[in-house]
Amino acid sequence: MISVQVNASSAYPVHIGAGLLDQTGGLAAQAVKSRRCAVVTDSTVGPLYAGRVCASLEKAGFSTLLYTFPAGEQNKNITTYSKILEFFAQNRLTRSDCVAALGGGVTGDMAGFAAATYQRGVDYIQLPTTFLAASDSSVGGKTAVDLEAGKNLAGAFWQPKMVICDTDTFSTLSTETFADGVAETVKHALIKDREFLDFLMPADLRQSIPQVVRRNVEIKAAVVGEDEFERGTRKFLNFGHTLGHAIEKCSSYRVTHGHAVAIGMVLATRAAERLGYSPAGTLDTVIKANQRFGLPIECPYTAQALYDAASGDKKRDGGSIDVVVLEEIGKAKTVRLDMDGLRAFTEAAL
Ligand SMILES: NC(=O)c1ccc[n+]([C@@H]2O[C@H](COP(=O)([O-])OP(=O)(O)OC[C@H]3O[C@@H](n4cnc5c(N)ncnc54)[C@H](O)[C@@H]3O)[C@@H](O)[C@H]2O)c1
Ligand SMILES: [Zn+2]
Repeated sequence: MISVQVNASSAYPVHIGAGLLDQTGGLAAQAVKSRRCAVVTDSTVGPLYAGRVCASLEKAGFSTLLYTFPAGEQNKNITTYSKILEFFAQNRLTRSDCVAALGGGVTGDMAGFAAATYQRGVDYIQLPTTFLAASDSSVGGKTAVDLEAGKNLAGAFWQPKMVICDTDTFSTLSTETFADGVAETVKHALIKDREFLDFLMPADLRQSIPQVVRRNVEIKAAVVGEDEFERGTRKFLNFGHTLGHAIEKCSSYRVTHGHAVAIGMVLATRAAERLGYSPAGTLDTVIKANQRFGLPIECPYTAQALYDAASGDKKRDGGSIDVVVLEEIGKAKTVRLDMDGLRAFTEAAL
């Protein structure tokens, strides 16, 4: 088992290893005081893994409740969120109980937001089962649901007490869902670690999962440790996300998050090169990385459609928005744009 410490306002460990779901109970008992746990999962992950998680928790002395919602980003909304809260209330969950989010980023974000807000906050642990959730979303305490107006528009910062990543769970991921995690991995390398990119490019990722998850978590932990509430450098993690979120929204969430981010990184870098924020050759590296891992590079939407979707993004601050660009490979910076600047950026992206 590999363990990485996250030093946010509350410190917590991320445990990474094969077969860890069967140790959930013993590990969770070290992280939370409660002995009653509401496991929240989705309709795909539940039948595969919830039985093992509940059995492990019960063996360690927890009583368990299980809530399963229909899988998919289109269900990461207020309706599902409110059903989770009602389930907690009907089962008389209290602030001394805890929540376990078992699944991908959709489950982690939504169960985390329910934990953050139910009775003003209960402890929770993250049990990521996608490569994306393990490498990115389960760490750092951003929780949210989507609104009609856009992605993640209602949410809270609420750090988990522990993250347990059983890398064996990735064996049941589709190629597409695995690739979603690769997109965030490439993002981490592009914004923060050129050597990591050099490692990734020739690697067989499925054979290097523990090392890759570990490096992702180390990068994320460093960024979160420095700027937990995204006042500055944490914004770099949004590389590819302003236009990526716009693509997700334009597709009614049929384009998955990682795939949208992959295209978003290409678009942002094309615009950045054309507008002089990134040196020549940067776009070529981003495109090659996407192609190497079977990630898309073409945007199916017009600049106007992207602008309309992106101008409602929550990263918009008054009349301006921060977009992330690459100063060089392995180093990011933000550029503040007004709405005309965002329009020009979006036009230069295509
Ligand atoms: N909070 C953050 O910091 C942060 C960071 C990045 C992404 N996100 C969010 O994460 C979400 C995307 O996460 P995701 O890609 O994990 O999506 P997801 O949770 O929808 O999972 C993708 C699909 O894989 C299925 N699945 C999950 N684990 C499985 C397994 N082991 N075997 C078989 N199927 C499995 C799910 O049921 C789902 O159908 C987006 O909503 C995005 O906004 C949040
Ligand atoms: Zn993301």
